[in-house]
Amino acid sequence: MSLSRDAKGALVLGGAPLCGVVREVGTPSYVYDLDGVTDSARALVAAFDGAPHLVAYAVKANSAGAIVAALASLGCGADVVSGAELQVALACGVPPDAVVYSGVAKTDDELDQALACGDRGIGAVQVESLEEVARVEARARAAGRRARVGVRINPSVDLAEATHAHIATGHDEAKFGVPRQDVARAVERVEASSHLELVGMTAHAGSQFVELAPYLDAVGVLFELVRDLRAGGRCRALSFVDSGGGFGVDYGDGRAVPSPADFVRAARREQQAFGLGDLALHVEPGRALVAAHGVLVARVIQVKVATEARWLMIDAGMNDLVRPALYQARHRVVPLDGAVPDDAIPWRVVGPVCESSDDFGEHLLPAKAPEAVAILDAGAYGYTMASRYNGRQAPAEVFVRGGRVVGKVARGSVDGWVRERAAAGRGLL
Ligand code: LLP
Repeated sequence: MSLSRDAKGALVLGGAPLCGVVREVGTPSYVYDLDGVTDSARALVAAFDGAPHLVAYAVKANSAGAIVAALASLGCGADVVSGAELQVALACGVPPDAVVYSGVAKTDDELDQALACGDRGIGAVQVESLEEVARVEARARAAGRRARVGVRINPSVDLAEATHAHIATGHDEAKFGVPRQDVARAVERVEASSHLELVGMTAHAGSQFVELAPYLDAVGVLFELVRDLRAGGRCRALSFVDSGGGFGVDYGDGRAVPSPADFVRAARREQQAFGLGDLALHVEPGRALVAAHGVLVARVIQVKVATEARWLMIDAGMNDLVRPALYQARHRVVPLDGAVPDDAIPWRVVGPVCESSDDFGEHLLPAKAPEAVAILDAGAYGYTMASRYNGRQAPAEVFVRGGRVVGKVARGSVDGWVRERAAAGRGLL
């Protein structure tokens, strides 16, 4: 955790006092501690003990260039889900060989981008259906290239208890991955094509696992399938198995969560147990590398006190951080300029957006409303999921390294938005 408080109780992220940052860039703003991100990645890499591996950072969690580039400089690759994310990864120095591309419906244009990079295209296009095998083959033929392919399986495990329904992907009703009964056919088709090369077998069962067991159930299904396919003479040229991301983080609800290194060590043990120790192990962590190292800072606009409730109305809303509205996620909200006192009272912290779900939940905060608050653990799936709903603009971003602000991105322009919207379609009238 990159957060601390100084002698006066003011909040400090990665050594940088947040009050100063807020004065400089305004609110709402995301502030990230780059040292915290790189420390997390180093701890994860250490869990491989030098065994062949790839940490393909899931860019969807936080696509800020400073973060992707910092991870690339440590040797991390990228897991991307669109042509746009692919371009960001490449621009930030991720070598094409270290990019894997998942996604159930990649467009022809996106496949062409992936196949055109470097000498041999990206490290692996992870196909998610039998239908997609044919599409990738057609694009590879058109490009005159041999596409490196991973087959993403749907492990078909019961995840009802394991995580929120919206972020569970490896169960029977999910659109993700090749259904178990079709995996052998998908592998045969890839291996039968002179334009495709089967390099990996992959699974990603979901996100925010806070226990090892459901994650290992899914990984076990993948490894067992690969072992059986190999025993049947398939998957000869395979170079990796990929157990996906999904390593959960502690959002402060008091339950102990295994570390990302614990997930990796457990996956490695399974890999050995299934006799796959000769293959590299790929993982695709997003949240676990960045969530704890980012906060969303907001100013209190006003309070509203009624018989039933006390609302603290802040200038960050669900458009800036949608996780509470979308997944009933709870992020801690703390005052910026002093620790929470013993006589704190419950405040319902809400944003300005015209939706009842624009609600960050009830939090213990000083009776005298603070001027500004920080919403914690917002480094993952915060800015990347932000929208412009209600005419609100993208929040600012601030990057801290070595206790200093090393980079800033200004908030989106209101004037620009007004011009753009007011002009939209006007010529038609
Ligand atoms: N690999 C694949 C194929 C994925 O679909 C995902 C996330 C990841 C890796 C990274 O998962 P992570 O390590 O971050 O759990 N917006 C949601 C999370 C959606 C995750 C989608 N896929 C949230 O805010 O909780």
